[in-house]
Amino acid sequence: MPATTDFSHLFAARARARGGAELSAILAGSPPGVLSMTGGFPNPATFPAGVLEEIVGRLLRDDAAVALQYTPVEGIASVREYLADRQEQLHARRPAAGELIVTSGGMECIALACQALVEPGDAVAVEAPTYLGALMAFAGAQADVHEVPMDADGLLVEALQERLAAGLRPKFLYVIPDFQNPTGRTLPLERREALVELCRRHGLLVFEDVAYRELAFDGGSLPSLRSLAPDVVVQAGTFSKVFFPGVRLGWAAGPREVVAQLAAAKQNTDQCAGGLGQRMVEEYGRAGHFERELPKARGLYHSHWRALERGLRALPAGCSYTEPAGGFLTWVTLPEGLDAVAMRDDASAAGVAYVAGAPFYAGGAGTNELRLSFSHLGPEQLEDAARRLAGVVDARLPA
Ligand SMILES: Cc1ncc(COP(=O)(O)O)c(C=O)c1O
Repeated sequence: MPATTDFSHLFAARARARGGAELSAILAGSPPGVLSMTGGFPNPATFPAGVLEEIVGRLLRDDAAVALQYTPVEGIASVREYLADRQEQLHARRPAAGELIVTSGGMECIALACQALVEPGDAVAVEAPTYLGALMAFAGAQADVHEVPMDADGLLVEALQERLAAGLRPKFLYVIPDFQNPTGRTLPLERREALVELCRRHGLLVFEDVAYRELAFDGGSLPSLRSLAPDVVVQAGTFSKVFFPGVRLGWAAGPREVVAQLAAAKQNTDQCAGGLGQRMVEEYGRAGHFERELPKARGLYHSHWRALERGLRALPAGCSYTEPAGGFLTWVTLPEGLDAVAMRDDASAAGVAYVAGAPFYAGGAGTNELRLSFSHLGPEQLEDAARRLAGVVDARLPA
């Protein structure tokens, strides 16, 4: 019998449901010479390599038995203690015992929520547009994704209210209240209060993703959803944007019975987040480095946004863009009729790259929208990139 190399008949239905080409393309980067505004990657200038050299050296010398060992599934006790202190400082509420676990990043929290809560066909509610990684995880879990529209201030709480009144019963609502991926929008306080009140009334679990929360340009922050309603909110956090993504570390904090299920799911995935990374975050944080370094990172990203914004003013009439107050991202809307996917080749020829908007929607909207990240390129390059983009858009408009 001839050997076969086609194994596609073996693939699970959830593997077929999963997209992913767009995310792989973002992670792969752009060709040399192209000014790429694709990935929401933190700027390497913010990576604390010097301090880490000292911390890692010390951990290897004095704490190898813990830092290089497997850890409890919920995380090393002293690290959880540190994260609880940090929650108290940043969210005005200290998680009780069993309400917080250490995870292998924010993306893992989403995957654990899918494993613990979502059966094929279950409804999950999301903002539209929303984080591509989350949409892919929900597709992989064969969830029935329901989009809730946004305006310039984020999720429209009344729109969610209407859907719930019409009988929608999602397993949870996935929401990114601060400097949202992909739009850069922030949910104002009144909406946060109205949202958690609505969810509480309907017994709807909220999954709050705070990936960019600590990167407000002015250092400020609104109360997190978890701080407003710890009874109905699970918070997923990550150290990828404020420390470095290579550490693959984050946390989940929420009602004890939900967190216990996330921990049980983690037992079936990687069993524990890497111990060395856990101890690095703890030592780095306990020494006060976040307080020292974050203001510099915020200043850097703010200067990047200002430069990009200068360039974006060259976009032709009929285009608009969001004005983030933090984070890495802005969302551009092109005139009706332009197609951001079709425009990509022109952009590439002009030496500029973006992520087309459609994959950030579950339902196929967003044709004339696109996402720009200003985290990675320097200010001059960003201004140049935006002007190149403006030229590409201009050339596509009817004469
Ligand atoms: C909104 C949001 N959540 C989660 C993540 C993933 O974070 P992590 O690197 O911790 O998996 C990202 C990364 O871009 C993100 O933008």
